[in-house]
Amino acid sequence: MNIDIITVVPELLDSPFNHSIMKRAKDKGLLSMHTHNLRKWAINKHMQVDDYQFGGGAGMVMMPEPLANAIDELQKDKKYDEIIFMTPDGELFNQKAANQLSLKENILIICGHYKGIDDRIRQKYVTKEISIGDYVLSGGELAAAVVVDAIGRLLPGVLNDETSALFDSFQDNLLAPPVYTRPADFRGDKVPDVLLQGDPKKVEEWRHEQSIQRTKERRPDMFEED
Ligand code: ADE
Repeated sequence: MNIDIITVVPELLDSPFNHSIMKRAKDKGLLSMHTHNLRKWAINKHMQVDDYQFGGGAGMVMMPEPLANAIDELQKDKKYDEIIFMTPDGELFNQKAANQLSLKENILIICGHYKGIDDRIRQKYVTKEISIGDYVLSGGELAAAVVVDAIGRLLPGVLNDETSALFDSFQDNLLAPPVYTRPADFRGDKVPDVLLQGDPKKVEEWRHEQSIQRTKERRPDMFEED
């Protein structure tokens, strides 16, 4: 899978993808990522990419021209399955959306800043608008990093144990069960017996029950979803 990201702060995206699982995904050639500094398509020598909003009001808006030129140029090389704009008024991101996006070949992500981007770009180019939660970040970069991480770990071959993403919280509309490692007795707190007895069927049943119980307690709303 290939992901291109348009941003005015490429530095913000350096670290998240250069460690741990995302780094492995890139090193194995399963995920390629390119960040593009929007200022490359600035309209003047002052590197301008934003301007005051028509109608007045505080805050700058990202201009259509640099964004359109950036997208047009990138589209010459690749046909994008989705052009995503990160925005707090987008569709709320969840595991189902991550699963769906992980099946795409080419994705372009636009990170907004300031008051957002000129609406004509949203109408003409953007195919999907994503919010990672009901709060406002200072830009779309951290939100894009969240989305790319959630997608990247689902790509076949990225996780060591191919099956482990299947048992993540949310994958079957349930939260994940509790997990334990050594020692079996930590300061008097013991690991549940069933996990030590070596009966895989019983372990599976116990995990499923725990998942249901956790979901009932913590996220009863998940039982109401489709
Ligand atoms: N940009 C600013 N806030 C955001 C959010 N909550 N989700 C996605 N992009 C954003």
